Amino acid sequence: MQTLTSLPDLRVALAERLKPIGLVPTMGYLHQGHLSLIHVARMECETVVASIFVNPTQFGPGEDLATYPRDMEGDLTKLCNEGTDVVWTPTREEMYPPGFQSWVQVEELTQFLEGAMRPGHFRGVTTVVVKLFNAVQPQKAYFGQKDAQQVAVIKQMARDLNFPIEIVVCPTVREFDGLAMSSRNAYLKGDERRTATVLYRALNAAKSAYQSGERSANTLRHLMADTIRAEPLTRMQYVSCAHPLTLKELDWVEQDALFSMAVYIGRTRLIDNFLLEEGVWTTG
Ligand code: PAJ
Repeated sequence: MQTLTSLPDLRVALAERLKPIGLVPTMGYLHQGHLSLIHVARMECETVVASIFVNPTQFGPGEDLATYPRDMEGDLTKLCNEGTDVVWTPTREEMYPPGFQSWVQVEELTQFLEGAMRPGHFRGVTTVVVKLFNAVQPQKAYFGQKDAQQVAVIKQMARDLNFPIEIVVCPTVREFDGLAMSSRNAYLKGDERRTATVLYRALNAAKSAYQSGERSANTLRHLMADTIRAEPLTRMQYVSCAHPLTLKELDWVEQDALFSMAVYIGRTRLIDNFLLEEGVWTTG
């Protein structure tokens, strides 16, 4: 496995590699969710490139940039064991040199859900992902359904800006008790960790109600909200039952819906979602 920091070195290394190239962008502190993306890329691509970069521009003021967990040595071992060919670990100066002033923004899709709660977050995500796409020039790029809005925004951006890159979406990987794997789970202590399964329980409550015939999006949103509020230590930021492509809130749930939520458990902010596509549930 080659590990590179500078963009010129990356370009030289990739020039000799076979296509298709698959890119897996990450912010590190890797878990099985990240590694599942590498695994799928390994099956589908001649060359697998992972990037590790804690992107400062997608964190708002007061968010956890300074404390975001890091473990470069452990990450490189995990990536090597999954058969990654090349890892790019750019520095902040490489990505955002002094005088940097160009941004990529998806306008409508970013106004809802995470975008509404975290102003500027998706501008940071799309800008860094475009820079990663331009640096690596992959044929395929791999993202997790765990971050459902990120997937919708990146697909929209790739389409709008004519990137000849297939966006591959992989299912959410969960802990034994349903908690979606996340680097931020490292913040959860004792009772908080036990409480954190409430996101999965709330999503399952909505799923069962749908399966029993409930079609009112309002009723389904209330069911999720009530499940969350029943737990001490939680502070619900939003629950949503929206169209998976437009992200607009639904009145009635028919064949397609994205059920999603953001919940604080103590000081840790967690997100999760279930996707109903053509009447079939993607629960990871
Ligand atoms: P990060 O949170 O490190 O996640 C990297 C990729 O792993 C994302 O595509 C995310 O959706 C996926 N992922 C995270 N947890 C997962 C899980 N439990 N199951 C399946 N996939 C999971 O998302 C980012 O970084 C950044 O925004 C990034 C795209 C790298 C841009 O900075």
